[in-house]
Amino acid sequence: MSDEKALPCLSGKKLVKVFGNNKTKTVAVDHVDFEFHKGEVISIVGESGSGKTTLSKMLLGLSSVTEGEIYFDGKLRDISSSKKRREYWKGIQAVFQDPFASYNIFYKIDSVLLDCINMRGKKHLSKEEKNELMTEACSFVNLKFEELTNKYPFELSGGQMQRLMIARVFLLKPQILIADEPTSMVDACSRATILDMLLKLRNENNMTIIFITHDIGLAYYISDVVYIMEHGKFVEHGATDEVILHPKEAYTKRLLSDVPRISKKWEF
Ligand SMILES: Nc1ncnc2c1ncn2[C@@H]1O[C@H](COP(=O)(O)OP(=O)(O)OP(=O)(O)O)[C@@H](O)[C@H]1O
Ligand SMILES: [Mg+2]
Repeated sequence: MSDEKALPCLSGKKLVKVFGNNKTKTVAVDHVDFEFHKGEVISIVGESGSGKTTLSKMLLGLSSVTEGEIYFDGKLRDISSSKKRREYWKGIQAVFQDPFASYNIFYKIDSVLLDCINMRGKKHLSKEEKNELMTEACSFVNLKFEELTNKYPFELSGGQMQRLMIARVFLLKPQILIADEPTSMVDACSRATILDMLLKLRNENNMTIIFITHDIGLAYYISDVVYIMEHGKFVEHGATDEVILHPKEAYTKRLLSDVPRISKKWEF
């Protein structure tokens, strides 16, 4: 194991998120601990309402932390000012479930991609160099940049919009990508394409990918490490084969029993 692999790029200590007040209290995330390493694909799997999105929003700095600590690159995360938050977001980005809600409707596709180039400190590049980068990003996700200029994201299909989100990530090159149910609104064919693009991002850039899903079958396909989440807690975690082929917890076994299409694999 390399030194780089040994140091977690993102870790959480006793993270808690409580919504509401004493009368209507929801403990969405309940004392979770984790260490995610560089270049790993980590799946967080749990049923609806188990706290996956709440945890991802806390990690992204989009939701406050009730208790506990988040460490980024070995240092206690500091997002106390807008400048520090912008700096943090250079290192961590997200693709969400609903591509329709992910874009500013007033921005054309080339402005969306240009923004990413500027955010990476490449504002000084010539128009031709920027066009080259945008063409490369689009071709990474099997889109044709020349057919997209002057279009708005909402003129694309759901699958194409989600691929454009991945083109943004390709340009931004964060260390960590959180993908929260990125394939739940697209068809099976687009789902496979998007999963493979996420793996390509990891393979080519050593990106850490935190993949959030209720589908343990997808987690089995994509991840190196799996964390199982139930009622805001991590009940089981470890190497994907270990957790999925030899589950210890009843909750993990139940999630597995809901996925008949891959059940044969762990019966052997
Ligand atoms: N802004 C909020 N205010 C109050 N309660 C919330 C808020 N956001 C989430 N919750 C509650 O926190 C719990 C966890 O919700 P969360 O969205 O994190 O679940 P999830 O695992 O992402 O579910 P899904 O698979 O349906 O997306 C739920 O009980 C939910 O009702
Ligand atoms: Mg969710």
